[in-house]
Amino acid sequence: MKTMLNIALPKGRLGEKVYTMFENGGFECPSIKENSRKLIFENENTGVRYFWVKPSDVSIYVERGAADIGVAGKDILLEYEPDVYELLDLGIGKCRMAVAAKNDYRDDMSKTLRVATKFSNITKNYYSSLGRDIDIIHLNGSIEIAPILGLSDVIVDIVETGTTLKENNLSVVQEIFPISARLISNKPSFKFKNDIIEKISDALALQIKNTGENK
Ligand code: PRP
Repeated sequence: MKTMLNIALPKGRLGEKVYTMFENGGFECPSIKENSRKLIFENENTGVRYFWVKPSDVSIYVERGAADIGVAGKDILLEYEPDVYELLDLGIGKCRMAVAAKNDYRDDMSKTLRVATKFSNITKNYYSSLGRDIDIIHLNGSIEIAPILGLSDVIVDIVETGTTLKENNLSVVQEIFPISARLISNKPSFKFKNDIIEKISDALALQIKNTGENK
C-alpha cells in the first residue's frame, strides 16, 4: 500500500482557501468538495489524505504525528508553543493580536490589570515583557463582552476587520503582533517524508510568490 501524507486542515473559511492552494499546487483530492459530513478524504494518486479539524487543534495533531503537516495560525503557535517545524508563511488568514478596551478606557498603572482572553499564554508573556502585574480571566469566546460587563479592564484578542470591536464600542489600545496562517510539519515526518513535504512546501511558496507579483 502506498504511504500517504496526512494533512490537517483548519475547518472553516480559512481551511477552504488553504485547500485551494494545495489543489492548485497539484495535490488535489476531488472528494473533499462533495457535500458531506465526512471529515477525512484521500487521493491515492496524489498520495495525500486531508482531514478537517478545529483550527486550534491542528498543531496538536501535527505535534503528535497524527498529521504529518498542517496549517495553523501564528496565534495558535504562539499560544501553545507546539514542538513542530514552521515551514512557510502562507500570507493568508491575516489579522492581528491586540489589546482592546472600552472607548473611554483610561489605564490606572497603580492597579492590577484584569485581562480577559482566550490566549492566556500570549497574554502572560506580553505583560510580563512589560513588567505589568495582571489578573488573567480565561474565557472561551465572545471575549468582547468582558469589559462591557465590568468583568475585565481590557481584552487580548484577535482583530480582523475591527467590526466586532466597533459594534461593541471597544477600540484597540495596543497591537501585539500580526498573525497569518503557517504551514507546519511534524519533526520526524519532515525527515522521513521529506520529498513530498518539500514538494508541497515549494508548490505553496510558488503560489505565494505569484500572488505577490500580481498585486
Ligand atoms: C474572532 C475574534 C473576534 C472576531 C474579530 O472571533 O475573537 O471576536 O473574530 O473579527 P473582526 O475584527 O473581523 O470583527 P471568532 O469568530 O473566532 O469567535 P469567538 O472569539 O467568539 O470564539
